[in-house]
Amino acid sequence: MKLTKSIAIAMVLALPQLGTAVAADGATLFKEKTCLTCHGKDGKTPLLPIYPKIAGQNAAYALQQMKDIKSGARANGQSAAMKGIMHLVTDEEMAALADYVATMAP
Ligand code: HEC
Repeated sequence: MKLTKSIAIAMVLALPQLGTAVAADGATLFKEKTCLTCHGKDGKTPLLPIYPKIAGQNAAYALQQMKDIKSGARANGQSAAMKGIMHLVTDEEMAALADYVATMAP
């Protein structure tokens, strides 16, 4: 029990480092940055019905939305839910993620 908890904490602490280790692979980032938790591993089975399906989204649009959610420029609807993790995602990673999202089958 105690060990499990320590491992869980260690994993949480290791997450940001993992992210920077693999710089720009969109598919890997989609898992590591927990995008799949909310948007579904296929980008179209969101955790909640009010969360958007993003598979096949235009890359430039997706990138801009990520930047705006991170900066707070987009603060509508449920965007606060996503904003919480965006401090772990760099501009370079957002670009790789946007390209990856655009390649997912809608
Ligand atoms: C905690 C849940 C959560 C996580 C984690 C999350 N998102 Fe989101 N995301 C949302 C929600 C909710 C919205 C819609 C916000 C709104 O209602 O305005 C959204 C919106 C988006 C949009 C804009 C969609 C559109 O049609 O305008 C994109 C693109 C996106 N997310 C990509 C990502 C990527 C890539 C990641 C991983 C770095 C990620 N999200 C992580 C919940 C999340």
